[in-house]
Amino acid sequence: MVCLGNICRSPLAEGILKEKIKNNNLDAMVESCGFEAFHVGDQPDKRAIEIASLNKIDIRNQRARLFKPSFFDFYDKIYVMDENNYKMVSSKIRSKEDLGKVDFIMNVLDSKSNTPVADPYFGGKENFRQTWEMLDRATDKIIDLIKKDSL
Ligand code: 4NP
Repeated sequence: MVCLGNICRSPLAEGILKEKIKNNNLDAMVESCGFEAFHVGDQPDKRAIEIASLNKIDIRNQRARLFKPSFFDFYDKIYVMDENNYKMVSSKIRSKEDLGKVDFIMNVLDSKSNTPVADPYFGGKENFRQTWEMLDRATDKIIDLIKKDSL
């Protein structure tokens, strides 16, 4: 799960999907990262922690880190939140195979729509609520895809 700061959207995506993987007894792993060095090492934004906590998910142990091209080797899929993230991840590909792993997270629900999960950082609680709602729907679908082995 990739966003810009790795303190709002992608930590929520990681936290929600981790919880659903656990609840469904699936053998899968998920991590998150960003491209902006400013928050590296930081906990998720307190508003992200809050919306997660309201939904009974604890993301406080996450720490922001940067994207590394070696992630293309470790992960089957690299989900980005928006066009900017897509461009940044695409700029690091080493092969066509790498590029084939990259997709907008909302495309799991609406293939090729490239619907962005808007950055809530400069918004308010309502923006974080919308971020949560979108990522909750997308991660439900990702769980279905993992179950069908068709991620
Ligand atoms: P995120 O939000 O990409 O969802 O983690 C952001 C958080 C911080 C910054 C940008 C986006 N920033 O530039 O500090």
